Amino acid sequence: MKVLGIETSCDETGVAVYDSSSGLLAQKLYSQVKLHADYGGVVPELASRDHVRKIVSLVQATLAEGKLSAKDIDGIAYTRGPGLIGALLVGSSMAKSLAYAWQVPAIGVHHMEGHLLAPMLDDPKPEFPFLALLVSGGHSMIVNVQGIGRYEVIGESVDDAAGEAFDKTAKLLGLDYPGGPLLAKLAQQGTKGVYRFPRPMTDKPGLDMSFSGLKTHAANTIRNEADDIQTHANIAYAFQEAVVDTLLIKCRRALKQTGLKRIVMAGGVAANSALREGFAKASKTDKFDVFYPSFEYCTDNGAMIAYAGCQRLLVGQTTEMESKTLPRWSLETLPAV
Ligand code: KG4
Ligand code: ZN
Repeated sequence: MKVLGIETSCDETGVAVYDSSSGLLAQKLYSQVKLHADYGGVVPELASRDHVRKIVSLVQATLAEGKLSAKDIDGIAYTRGPGLIGALLVGSSMAKSLAYAWQVPAIGVHHMEGHLLAPMLDDPKPEFPFLALLVSGGHSMIVNVQGIGRYEVIGESVDDAAGEAFDKTAKLLGLDYPGGPLLAKLAQQGTKGVYRFPRPMTDKPGLDMSFSGLKTHAANTIRNEADDIQTHANIAYAFQEAVVDTLLIKCRRALKQTGLKRIVMAGGVAANSALREGFAKASKTDKFDVFYPSFEYCTDNGAMIAYAGCQRLLVGQTTEMESKTLPRWSLETLPAV
């Protein structure tokens, strides 16, 4: 089965075709990063308009790249939520129009399920069950994953998501939007041990996380210390170290609580090298396996939506034409596959 996937939940227009027998056939991604950079964050109305401008040509380019035509496509997957409502509407309208015109089924995919299953696009693929650490710009969650659609959220951020904390702290350091990758780069020049940031909510039991305090801690440190690049690099280092350490403490706790032996890390922040290194090191000492998507599938993309949609279409699940987009949508309400 060949599925065309469309992602438009935020500031990336992603389109891909996934084939259940031969894998990913083609994919295109257009990032709106430059458009939003002047505003220091995503402007929802501009995001929707830019998706409208790009979506048709991206679908055409993806089909051309895979040497595919409409008659090759067996189903359409689109991000139904969570995300910005206007942006979601562009992708869902496009998906439904194509499904109607090409007489194929459509399936609305949960954006975080897309992230969670993204490691399945590479080899080796993690086997179920596993623990998923989802760390993106909008969400931070620890999920007990027993199978596709069998998700129990056992921990989540009570305030800022991990990516959001990266972006806000980067802004305080004078870096452009989205600051996560830029902060990570700056941290490479930082010296370990100059500053020590707190590890929020780790002294109490439980798996919930909080990252907004780290941003405040960074703001205070920046205000009180010298305004030079080395100081900023040291602050970036200490901030990143605290996020990685906090996520590690929580995941170790979650492994113990669930008895699981595998961790899948996904979402934009999973592209962070320090985070990957920290988990790789811990996996050796603590004897668990860790999987991450390749860098291109960590941040938003159409391939993960095509993959997740394909798994659901294969068992006959579809989403009706009249269905609404779901800007807020709990991962736990999804049907099992
Ligand atoms: O998953 P994603 O592309 O979009 C959402 O669904 O939110 O995640 C984007 C987030 C942004 O906050 C971005 O700064 C962060 O992921 N990010 C990173 C890195 N690459 C992307 N954060 C830290 N280090 C990175 N290398
Ligand atoms: Zn995302």
